[in-house]
Amino acid sequence: MNRDDAYKMLSSIGQQHVLRYYDELSEAQQKLLLSQIEETDFSVLTRLSETQTDLKGTFSPLEAMQCAEIEKRKEEFYEVGIKNLKEGKVAALLLAGGMGTRLGAEVPKGVYDIGIKKPLYIFECLINNLMDVVKQTDKWIRLFVMTSEKNHDATVQFFKEKDFFGYKEEMVTFFKQDMAPACDFNGNLYMESKYRISTSPNGNAGWYTSMLRAGLGKILSEEGIEWINIFAVDNVLQRMCDPCFIGATVLADVAVGSKVVRKASPDEKVGVMCLEDGKPSIVEYYELSDEMRNAKDSNGDSAYNYGVILNYLFRVSDLESVAEKKMPMHIVKKKIPYIDEKGEYVSPSEPNGYKFEQLVIDMIRQLSSCLPYEVIRDKEFAPIKNLTGVDSVETARILLQKNGIEV
Ligand code: UTP
Repeated sequence: MNRDDAYKMLSSIGQQHVLRYYDELSEAQQKLLLSQIEETDFSVLTRLSETQTDLKGTFSPLEAMQCAEIEKRKEEFYEVGIKNLKEGKVAALLLAGGMGTRLGAEVPKGVYDIGIKKPLYIFECLINNLMDVVKQTDKWIRLFVMTSEKNHDATVQFFKEKDFFGYKEEMVTFFKQDMAPACDFNGNLYMESKYRISTSPNGNAGWYTSMLRAGLGKILSEEGIEWINIFAVDNVLQRMCDPCFIGATVLADVAVGSKVVRKASPDEKVGVMCLEDGKPSIVEYYELSDEMRNAKDSNGDSAYNYGVILNYLFRVSDLESVAEKKMPMHIVKKKIPYIDEKGEYVSPSEPNGYKFEQLVIDMIRQLSSCLPYEVIRDKEFAPIKNLTGVDSVETARILLQKNGIEV
């Protein structure tokens, strides 16, 4: 793409200001800008004019498989899970493309050191947990790590420096998720420098399409991977590729398994698994009616009682249909640093525009069946969103210690 092509294309969408500084850029910078223009998907901007309907369907309960039943069928599940792992049919996929703005660290979230007496990195905790499964199966599990353009190099370099925390390097595949441009409240693109449009990672549902775009579909088919266990970077007690969870999901013959935890209290602010118009979905705490709050399941427990923890096991064959569908776009007000008309860098203290994100929850809504699988919160859920307070480095350290992990 040359300057004239870029100008023509940008004018057609009213964004020609992106080239405002073009003539004063070095040749290398001009090239960078032109290639960013060529690669960026500007179609997200058209979604600003779509009415943001948040029309919900009819909710009904989706019974979770509870700990008592899991305990009873533990051996059966374990055997099936181990078999699938040994046959290389299950891969792990670490979602590490987020910006981690609430934690506010200078480094990618996984590189953050949460140790007290000794260094203990978030990535290290996750690799240790995955290694536990490798030891049980005596087989390396393919690990995909999704980064973003913003944190890719720092993430890869960190893994290399730390020798992959003992994981087998050839079994780790990094890929970058796609980025979405950011704009002001009138839909005008922000520039983060004179030769770069402001962009941000396109949300955690971007993982499957980004992975295919990176050419990794080849690994899935060559290695015969039938299931992908995606998990968030920020839960340091995350048990991924858990053989019992895999076994239960495979035997239930569902499109996706979802680890869930019992709500800490009826008012806890988490999304809970349910059905929406007969399909798996997640109902947000503020969408629960009184009737739903009082509904009971067959055990007499609350029927909407199991919160999601961003640990899902997707059946690969069902993902193809999701990739073809147009997913809802979440348009979120955020603080977006930019350069102003004088070319000066501005870091706003209040939200000044929109970012575009697609959420993994919407992938679940496209699938036909789901098994919510109960795990014990104190053993498997220690999210780190903030430095202090709720879901923080502080609370995660306490939970790690409770589980016998030195920090
Ligand atoms: P969060 O919703 O907590 O977002 O991500 P975040 O970006 O990490 O943190 P904040 O909101 O800026 O403080 C949940 C999981 O989804 C991943 C994150 O890395 C985390 O594992 N994620 C999120 C992505 O991989 N890509 C994204 O675009 C967004």
